[in-house]
Amino acid sequence: MNDATVTITDRGARRILDGHPWVYRTDVLDAVHAEPGALVRIQDRRQRYLGQALYSSKSQIALRLLTRERRAFDRGFLAERITAAARYRDAIAPCAGACRLVSSEGDLLPSLTIDRYGDCYVIQTLSQGMDRLKPALLDILQEQFSPRSIIERNDSPVRALEDLPETKGVISGEEIREVVAEDNGVRFVYDLLGGQKTGGYLDQRENRAAALQYARGRLLDCFTYTGGFAVTLARASESALGLDSSPDALAAARRNQELNGLTNVEWREANCFDYLKAADQSGARFDTVVLDPPAFARHKSDLEGALRGYKELNLRALKTLNQGGFLVTCSCSYHVSEAEFLQTVASAALDAHRSVQVVERRTQSRDHPILLTVPETHYLKCLILRVAE
Ligand SMILES: C[S@@+](CC[C@H](N)C(=O)[O-])C[C@H]1O[C@@H](n2cnc3c(N)ncnc32)[C@H](O)[C@@H]1O
Repeated sequence: MNDATVTITDRGARRILDGHPWVYRTDVLDAVHAEPGALVRIQDRRQRYLGQALYSSKSQIALRLLTRERRAFDRGFLAERITAAARYRDAIAPCAGACRLVSSEGDLLPSLTIDRYGDCYVIQTLSQGMDRLKPALLDILQEQFSPRSIIERNDSPVRALEDLPETKGVISGEEIREVVAEDNGVRFVYDLLGGQKTGGYLDQRENRAAALQYARGRLLDCFTYTGGFAVTLARASESALGLDSSPDALAAARRNQELNGLTNVEWREANCFDYLKAADQSGARFDTVVLDPPAFARHKSDLEGALRGYKELNLRALKTLNQGGFLVTCSCSYHVSEAEFLQTVASAALDAHRSVQVVERRTQSRDHPILLTVPETHYLKCLILRVAE
């Protein structure tokens, strides 16, 4: 049952009709009866029904649309959405080891993430409304998947925007902290309580598989975290070097190396900007370089600095590549468009005096679906480039 009706401006209504699920607070005309996190009906100024949404009393995103249908968005409806998300994965993006089961707006379940690591599920509810649905979500996960364990990773700082506390822990099933899961023919250990994100960067799974087709010779994996690219590509390389600034991440990377019996991988704690500058100046050469930095532009206002950062990294990396070598270069900043990223890397290639061929233009793994009318769901850019001979 819906608790209240919220009236929105014509601009807010236009946004909904254009296929975007967010209504900003500035477009809310009347929400007097809506409680924080309530499921509400949305109407326009002429009281025409627009849909059902989750209401936030705090965030700038005041409403997150769940459906335009008139049927009540009840537990059954929620369960259908989870089933639909699972069906999409089975049909389009099957994965054996670790993958995303629900990717918020991309699966029509705004502010909800559910990742599966083997038979353990990790859940994030990042809005007041989705947080209120947590008990129902736990029941549905039990019913549909019988998980060994369900872990909550609600320790994201974005919860503060919703007046929600940061919290994490096992909320159902076995007290599990770590899971070993295999993907792309390699095994990774995931720390579901202490690792970054929900334990791993699942959005790069298909890019690692793609990069494996080209990797060769000496590999440099910058921003390796727990060795996602380095461990996957080591099989195809003579040697691999993984760099990260986090000693904890590198300790996990070493475990992943051992788990896969790899003897040609080294790890080094380093600032990748400094390392690449020194490598360029000392004339070090590689045949494959991976750049997967954290998001440099978290806000629109960071764009200029972010582009400078991407240019610097790509310039140095291109200079250290042998002719015929491959650069796998990524940006996970939503605010940097693919066109801007391509332009920045092109400018780096010109400065490096390198002719560069675009082998593949890629994005996040397909279990992080991009919704056509919601540009925010397309955040990861991954270019696979070759230095022309
Ligand atoms: C997007 S994650 C990398 C994910 C990884 N490539 C994978 O496939 O799982 C970014 C990583 O960069 C590291 N990092 C951030 N700034 C750094 C810097 N200046 N130098 C080296 N590592 C850095 C973080 O510790 C984090 O592990």
